[in-house]
Amino acid sequence: MPKLKTIYICSKCGAQASRWEGKCSNCQAWNSYVEDVIDVKAEKSKTTGKPQATHKLAYQNFDEKRIKVGILEFDRVLGGGVMQNAINLVVGDPGVGKSTLVLQAASKLSQKLKILYVSGEESVQQVSARAKRLKAKSENLLFINEVGLENILATVEDIEPDLLVLDSLQVVTSAEINSLSGSMSQVRFVAEKMMEIAKQKGIPVFCIGHVNKGGELAGPMALAHLVDAVFYLEGEKYQQFKMLRSVKNRFGSIDEVGVFEMTGNGFVEVKNPSAAFLEGRQKDSLGSIVVPTMEGSRSFLVEIQALTTHTNFGYPKRTASGVDLNRLNLMIAVLNKYAKMKLDSQDVFVNVIGGFKINEPAVDLGICLAIASSKQKKVIPNDTVAIGEVGLSGEIRSVNFLEKRIKEAEKLGFQKVILPKTSKPPKIEMKTVFVRNVAEAVASIVN
Ligand code: TYD
Ligand code: MG
Repeated sequence: MPKLKTIYICSKCGAQASRWEGKCSNCQAWNSYVEDVIDVKAEKSKTTGKPQATHKLAYQNFDEKRIKVGILEFDRVLGGGVMQNAINLVVGDPGVGKSTLVLQAASKLSQKLKILYVSGEESVQQVSARAKRLKAKSENLLFINEVGLENILATVEDIEPDLLVLDSLQVVTSAEINSLSGSMSQVRFVAEKMMEIAKQKGIPVFCIGHVNKGGELAGPMALAHLVDAVFYLEGEKYQQFKMLRSVKNRFGSIDEVGVFEMTGNGFVEVKNPSAAFLEGRQKDSLGSIVVPTMEGSRSFLVEIQALTTHTNFGYPKRTASGVDLNRLNLMIAVLNKYAKMKLDSQDVFVNVIGGFKINEPAVDLGICLAIASSKQKKVIPNDTVAIGEVGLSGEIRSVNFLEKRIKEAEKLGFQKVILPKTSKPPKIEMKTVFVRNVAEAVASIVN
């Protein structure tokens, strides 16, 4: 007989308490405690006898077994293909395309492997309608619609698939755990069972996971530690480009991204993302500049647009989409003080085209120049890119991967690069304009 006990778990840090707390005493988060039920007996019985240390790790020579999916962008993010024994988690907003992408990968893999696709969210009709759109091969692609963990495990025993897909982790429930589906203990328990399948049977598992309101992985914090790899599928709802990003990967590098485009027949890979992002760019428009940004080991060119207009109601408005608002405020302050640009009575809007989100400071200079272009009514030549971090005293600082960024711009036919004076002169054919501070940078486009 399981001995059940109600506890409260902080959804932010995983701290446990026997009573509900308004503010977590561990991480100070407000209103983060959720009720959960644990089996006290099961928790205790987990401690077993003394383990034996047998392997001499240094002498072990494991063969890395990877299976290529055959979708280049997907394989790159995985770190070269699906790793045997690995439990992978694909997370993202509802409707972003998680089920589509994983089914597409499963369909490709079913040419070589026997695949079991478990969906707790959708019926066989819904998934076959999707499979039809994707022209998925079905011979080796088996499907069950099931939410009971015990039934799923029995089917796995029965079918012995080479790869398992679970869509999604949050809807599967175990009869052994006395709490609702999606609760902390259910999710943790299901994930642990999936891990057993991956580690003990050597079957790679792809779990689809939900995100919470803040865009973070829903479920216990321990979930991200439990699995081998976590991939986020990102993209604005109405933008056709979606990016698969590795945020954790025990068998590959993190921050690697794959770019996809959603079509009527599922995802297609975007082989040249920079060209795709810049497609349809208007020529000679005010407040526009292209910046090479880094995503993992790759550089992408994206367009930044700025618009400055006179403030009508006293307090100037600043809006940022795709870049951090605090960063934008900082750039405005620097331009005000060091480039003598009167932005106090200007509304400033900055937008990264294509729904791209940029978090790195290397685009600071681009943001400043886009604002300057709009404010001073000077078009930045279409063939110009800017790279550089802007410091608090208006200085332009060098950034990493300069050569790689410039190479990407060169490949797309850009002729001129504005870059920090402190950078080592790159060996390139493009025209270079070295700038020391924002005043010089603004002068380089205005004069
Ligand atoms: P889905 O994969 O169900 O998203 P998730 O599992 O992340 O909730 O589908 C995402 C959206 O993609 C859905 O609105 C329908 C659309 N879609 C296409 O545009 N083309 C296609 O070929 C498919 C299968 C879906
Ligand atoms: Mg889905």
